[in-house]
Amino acid sequence: MSFRLEGASLVHANGHRALREVSLALAPGERAAVIGPSGAGKTTLVRVLGTSLRPTEGRVALFDTDPWRLSASALRRLRARIGVVHQSPPIPPRLRVVTAVLAGRLGIWPTWRALASLLVPGDPTGAREALSRLDLGDRVFDRCDRLSGGQLQRVGIARVLYQRPDLILADEPVSALDPTLADHAVAALVAASEANRATLVASLHAVDLALKWFPRLIGMKNGEVHFDRPTAAVTRAMLHELYATEGRVLPTQGVDAIDDEAQPANVLALKRPGCQ
Ligand SMILES: Nc1ncnc2c1ncn2[C@@H]1O[C@H](COP(=O)(O)OP(=O)(O)OP(=O)(O)O)[C@@H](O)[C@H]1O
Ligand SMILES: [Mg+2]
Repeated sequence: MSFRLEGASLVHANGHRALREVSLALAPGERAAVIGPSGAGKTTLVRVLGTSLRPTEGRVALFDTDPWRLSASALRRLRARIGVVHQSPPIPPRLRVVTAVLAGRLGIWPTWRALASLLVPGDPTGAREALSRLDLGDRVFDRCDRLSGGQLQRVGIARVLYQRPDLILADEPVSALDPTLADHAVAALVAASEANRATLVASLHAVDLALKWFPRLIGMKNGEVHFDRPTAAVTRAMLHELYATEGRVLPTQGVDAIDDEAQPANVLALKRPGCQ
């Protein structure tokens, strides 16, 4: 398995219980979207999977290994197999776009190459290739603080595409993008996961994107897994219950109008080209 959580709970320092006995596993190459209302625990879940938070109870295994029992160097190697897309990428402002993208491989390059790459970008062609998949091929040598929030978010995605990790964790990766770019960026993440057989977990606020691109949906609410199903088996009623939006519209990116009469939920979601 790419990862397995068994009865994982997480209590934040202030006593708030953000995850409650979450059990989940994803096989290599599997793709799942995590959806649910604000405060449901999506970011906390992604941070536990990325080993930036340790569960207070229960177990976590990444690539069949307990990350919290590893030596510092083994943990570093394990983390190099994980690519994280943050909602607001933590990119130092004066950094150039090319360096931010190449940083995706810092964890796997030998130290000399990583350091050299900070001074003279070692692989601008590779960086440009990743950026062009997000329509940013012409911004390779720009400074990150000259980019818009949406452009910066795409640089964060390009970095993970360049990294080619075994597990991609994306926390609201397209929240700053317009509907067309959001669709395009999720498509790029899915293509990367398919090309490298990487497992992809993305938390999304836009239900339409989740329905369109992910074969498995994990609905979270109050720190619990509310449902975990193949997308085809998720109904409108389940989505309305998750978001407590009875009689109101579901959160979408505007990629597709969701018709409330439709059952199951995904029948009116835009069909992905070549997807059954
Ligand atoms: N560092 C923290 N300390 C204390 N409480 C926290 C911390 N981080 C998150 N929480 C709380 O844990 C709960 C889950 O937060 P989380 O960020 O995981 O939700 P989310 O589903 O990602 O929400 P959103 O959709 O708004 O991003 C929330 O009630 C939040 O207030
Ligand atoms: Mg969040």
